[in-house]
Amino acid sequence: MSQTEQRSAIPQHNTEARFEEPTHGPSTSSEWWRRSVIYQIYPRSFRDTTGNGIGDLPGITAELHHIAALGVDAIWLSPFFASPQKDAGYDVSDYRAVDPIFGTLEDFDALIAEANRLGVKILVDLVPNHCSNEHALFVEALASPKGSSAREHFIFRDGRGVDCQLPPNNWQSHFGGPAWTRITEPDGTPGQYYLHLFDSAQPDFNWDNPAVGDEFESVLRFWLDRGAGGFRVDVAHALIKASGLPDWDGRADGADSPGYPFADAPMFGQPAVHEVYRRWRSICEEYEGERVLCAEANVHPIESMADWVRPDEMHQSFNFPFLHTGWDHAALKAIITRSLKAFGAVNAPSTWVLSNHDVPRHATRLGATAPSPRPGDGLGPQDEQPDIVLGLARARAATLFMLGLPGGAYLYQGEELGLGDNTMLPNEHRQDPSYARTNGERLGRDGCRVPLPWDDSSSSLGFSDSAASWLPQPAEWAKLTRQAQETDPDSTLNFYRNALALRSSSQLGLGNLNWLEDTTNGQLLGFENTGVMVALNLGVEPVALPAGEVLLASSSEALSPAGPEGSAVLLNPNAAVWLRRASS
Ligand code: GLC
Repeated sequence: MSQTEQRSAIPQHNTEARFEEPTHGPSTSSEWWRRSVIYQIYPRSFRDTTGNGIGDLPGITAELHHIAALGVDAIWLSPFFASPQKDAGYDVSDYRAVDPIFGTLEDFDALIAEANRLGVKILVDLVPNHCSNEHALFVEALASPKGSSAREHFIFRDGRGVDCQLPPNNWQSHFGGPAWTRITEPDGTPGQYYLHLFDSAQPDFNWDNPAVGDEFESVLRFWLDRGAGGFRVDVAHALIKASGLPDWDGRADGADSPGYPFADAPMFGQPAVHEVYRRWRSICEEYEGERVLCAEANVHPIESMADWVRPDEMHQSFNFPFLHTGWDHAALKAIITRSLKAFGAVNAPSTWVLSNHDVPRHATRLGATAPSPRPGDGLGPQDEQPDIVLGLARARAATLFMLGLPGGAYLYQGEELGLGDNTMLPNEHRQDPSYARTNGERLGRDGCRVPLPWDDSSSSLGFSDSAASWLPQPAEWAKLTRQAQETDPDSTLNFYRNALALRSSSQLGLGNLNWLEDTTNGQLLGFENTGVMVALNLGVEPVALPAGEVLLASSSEALSPAGPEGSAVLLNPNAAVWLRRASS
């Protein structure tokens, strides 16, 4: 901690901290999800106790105390249900069973018991848009005749054109290729097509059929009864499709394209979907302990996303526009302002997230020296490699800035160790279905899913007791193990611990944001929240900070003295700080 004093590097009036019109965050409330920090565990890459190279539930139970000690409120567990693993578990064949590679239901119960002991909640990943083609209902649908009630659980249609050679419409799969697959009827003749917005191993449910809704309400209760703290809801915006399934020439992922605004996409954001979540909210409210729902609703613009978190719907929705905003002063300010306004209008918190299992980690994105040749996709060995040092500096700065914002925050396992992607992953290891479905044109998401480095006890860096690891770890991770960072006060791990502790003690999650007027030509992005000034230097020159007490800086290199006397402090480029300003 050091006292700082203003010097002349920025105009004097900036340090008097003039604020723009306040932008209010969510109102103060004891509801834990308004200010929560939720840590995503990707089970297959967390900790392997069986030596098969794939993480498992006992591994999570054994190491959960490390994550609780970080200071998080809850864990979101990516899918661990019975699954052929065609999309890493997002293809569920039994929603009430644990896949044997991850353990058993008893292992889940043991995990809940440990989580309760440590005071963290466990949110389960619910995948209601589609299941696996090995799910009993789909197997039954295939074995049943056209027009049968079994087929009505899914979206089967006849093809178009001569001999129905063409799919029922022109929809494309998110993972590439058509969104329809033709089946062979039980009598051996070429048959109907079924819809799959993702892989052909992931048939979409027919949510117009009330039996589907009934089934999911029962699944919800199954996990709530077992102690789940709530659900992260996969592809929550896609359940209901526009009637008639009209053709769509816009993008498969729904991002706006010229002439095809997201709002018109027939497979996303249909109004009836909100009824589903109203029912689920009321089910959650039957249970004690404030069970929550968080939407993966990739809808645009952010004002529409707020519809998912109206008071009687979900509690939170992932703020993907924030995640996708790069190192850009104006764009960050704009999306944060819009987010707080949009969610505030429905009295919901905004969430903030920088990494997850579907996107390159922020340490990699922010270290990219050239724009990705495949926007939104991972980097591969043939691409220009990211600057690891710059990426980590910016990642820590972006995290500190994010954790200063009012609302809920999401962390992805390993970001507290400063991990980036494995950008040198040899292609033979790639398992993401988008890699095969696009003939390698898209590299897919494997690079951000690499098993965690714990210590130097095995050649898989303590991930597994054996050398096995379902994806190879980058060589530089040997220096980034949890064990190596444990006692280093400047490590990324200790930085995260400090940031989370201060965020909690200063109640930043429940605060309000007031932008600090920018007089630095778009270098310093700053705001005040609950008496804490949060500042991020996105420019290329050091910027002087107002006088005050530095609470936390993004690294030991974030600050430097302004002059030989060392009487003022500069915030260096690619760095962030939390500061309590000296009272005037
Ligand atoms: C979500 C998941 C992603 C998965 C997809 C299909 O976007 O986060 O990993 O592939 O849904 O279930």
